[in-house]
Amino acid sequence: MTKTKQNNYQLILGIETSCDDTGIALVTTGGKLIGEIKFSSAPIQAAYGGVVPEIAARVHAKKILQLTNQLLTCCQVTTKNIVAIAYTKQPGLIGCLLVGQVFAKTLSWLWNKPLIPVNHLVGHIFSVGLTTPIHFPFLALVASGKTTALYYVESYVKFTLLNSTVDDAIGEVYDKVGRVMGLTYPAGPKIDQLYNEQLNVPQLAKQPKASNPFSYSGIKTAAINYWKQCSDWDEKLKCQLLATALQNWVITSLIRKINYYAEKWGVKNLAIIGGVGANQLLRKKISELKYQVMLVDLKYATDNGAMIAYYGAMLLQQNCLS
Ligand code: KG4
Repeated sequence: MTKTKQNNYQLILGIETSCDDTGIALVTTGGKLIGEIKFSSAPIQAAYGGVVPEIAARVHAKKILQLTNQLLTCCQVTTKNIVAIAYTKQPGLIGCLLVGQVFAKTLSWLWNKPLIPVNHLVGHIFSVGLTTPIHFPFLALVASGKTTALYYVESYVKFTLLNSTVDDAIGEVYDKVGRVMGLTYPAGPKIDQLYNEQLNVPQLAKQPKASNPFSYSGIKTAAINYWKQCSDWDEKLKCQLLATALQNWVITSLIRKINYYAEKWGVKNLAIIGGVGANQLLRKKISELKYQVMLVDLKYATDNGAMIAYYGAMLLQQNCLS
């Protein structure tokens, strides 16, 4: 948990429960993060090779009050400091969202504070603002375990979806290919670690046109087929080869799309968002581009309550509550 003792601030309480992370945070109305706490059920889920929605929802229900109390106590914050409660409304696993929503509504009723429903993806998009000044307009790549999409963002409330996946999300491909490789969930960071640019690996599939919709089911199948072809090879080498070949394809496809849309929309600012945004190869390639890049701090690249509280604060600041 990170915390600052700030008992004279006006604060937004942020609640995130869309998947397997219970995230609670406090952000000032100006957007400064005061404290946050998170509990992930990922280690519990690892045995199942992915998130079991029922387990995730039960863990949220068990942890949410305890985490909130812990955060408020550590930051020496009372309900007097809290001006609004922001929570993840959608999208996400329905049972998990419900836990967060019911909790937020209960606090709102008990404390008599307004509720700010936040779209999880929009929360991710603006999470860059937690650590970096935001420059509008920008292109936002959202790459997580549930979504792969590109947005053109003009303001805190005006954004256009340019492209999104027609099948698997990019993180889902990392996790599913990783499962075949014998890696535990979430496999993305492990495949990232296994990447070795010195290795000579085949191109797993042809790159589609940059303007095509995002699609990852083909590369997932190609990666699994490659794994089967190498069945009698040394296990460690096989993992490194597949991780490298998969990453080469996936990251190249992302860079091609970013370049295509940035040129088409005449955008010079980019934001990279979502769990896959933590990927080291993606970060390296992006840093070599000619755009001004807003990278989410690794700490906030995965699901968290801070981004929900932050976006709630921005909406409040802009007088944009519906
Ligand atoms: O945004 P996020 O925390 O929430 C979900 O959408 O669930 O993203 C989690 C996803 C997982 O699929 C995980 O494997 C992937 O992000 N991920 C990564 C890396 N770190 C997390 N994928 C590639 N490279 C990474 N370093």
